[in-house]
Amino acid sequence: MSTKEKVLQYLEQHKGESISGQDLADKLEVSRTSVWKAINGLKKEGYQIEATTNKGYQLSVETDLLSEAAIVPLLSEALKNHRILTHKTIDSTNLEAKRIVNEEPSFEGVILSEEQTKGRGRLGRTFYSPSESGLYMSLVLRPAADMDNATLITTAAAVAVCQAIETLTGKEPQIKWVNDIFLDGRKVCGILTEGIMDMESRTIGTIILGIGLNFRVPEKDFPDELQSIAGTLFDSKNVTVTRNQMAAEILNHFYALYPDLASRSYLEEYRKRCFVLGEQVTFPQGSETIEAKAIAIDNDGGLIVALPNGETKTLTYGEISI
Ligand code: BTN
Repeated sequence: MSTKEKVLQYLEQHKGESISGQDLADKLEVSRTSVWKAINGLKKEGYQIEATTNKGYQLSVETDLLSEAAIVPLLSEALKNHRILTHKTIDSTNLEAKRIVNEEPSFEGVILSEEQTKGRGRLGRTFYSPSESGLYMSLVLRPAADMDNATLITTAAAVAVCQAIETLTGKEPQIKWVNDIFLDGRKVCGILTEGIMDMESRTIGTIILGIGLNFRVPEKDFPDELQSIAGTLFDSKNVTVTRNQMAAEILNHFYALYPDLASRSYLEEYRKRCFVLGEQVTFPQGSETIEAKAIAIDNDGGLIVALPNGETKTLTYGEISI
């Protein structure tokens, strides 16, 4: 870890507290000059670090820039060596994850960005990803399984995001099948799961799990087509946690479920949070729109619907309207 990263990690863990340059240098076992250089570098990156003659340096509690240094200390023991890559801006963290896997096929970790210029949504849509007000992250996973498990990964991720939000804020998010997270009737988070085919084994060797959470996006800023649908976790005046905390919490919850996906035990919670069950829904089929009643989530995360003719059908992919 560089001195700058060490200084940042210390300041992130002691946000709002002051420490003198000398004490910081002693604690980190580096020179005072390198602390000074590190502080200047961090300030240039946008960290609000106050320096007072008597007290020393203090990272403002307002600061919420995504960093490995802030996330790692919040991760569970099992994830301490997880690779965490952060960017100021990027086209799409899912695209970046694919580029990394191309270069380094054994990469496992997570890519985060303050902003996405080409954020990607499901079904070819774009995902609105303004700077510093959302959480955009892509997990690179190597499940020892085939594409059937992509729905399990997606549904488990939806549960993990709900758990993380609930743990940190007390709010109770719900899920719209298959993987949209709603709060107060508005979509606050979307998940895009993409598989990378291993050409030799003809199986999905890598899964990129992209999570986009509207963290404190001013609702008036959403594009027109999202105005009636999209919501935000916090309005900008009432933010009680940092995005670094939320990122760590999502990772902790997801990786707690991930090793045991095959047991499907998390589906119980998925069903409880899934607000479409019992409701009339519509979905596209060819050029038609079909109306049906959502009745259950099956053991693979599929949505079972009752058609007007009394037959049932299981949806495994796509989008429903309610
Ligand atoms: C959807 O609701 O349609 C899915 C949205 C997924 C957005 C996330 S943000 C991080 C990752 N990178 C992307 O380009 N998309 C996903």
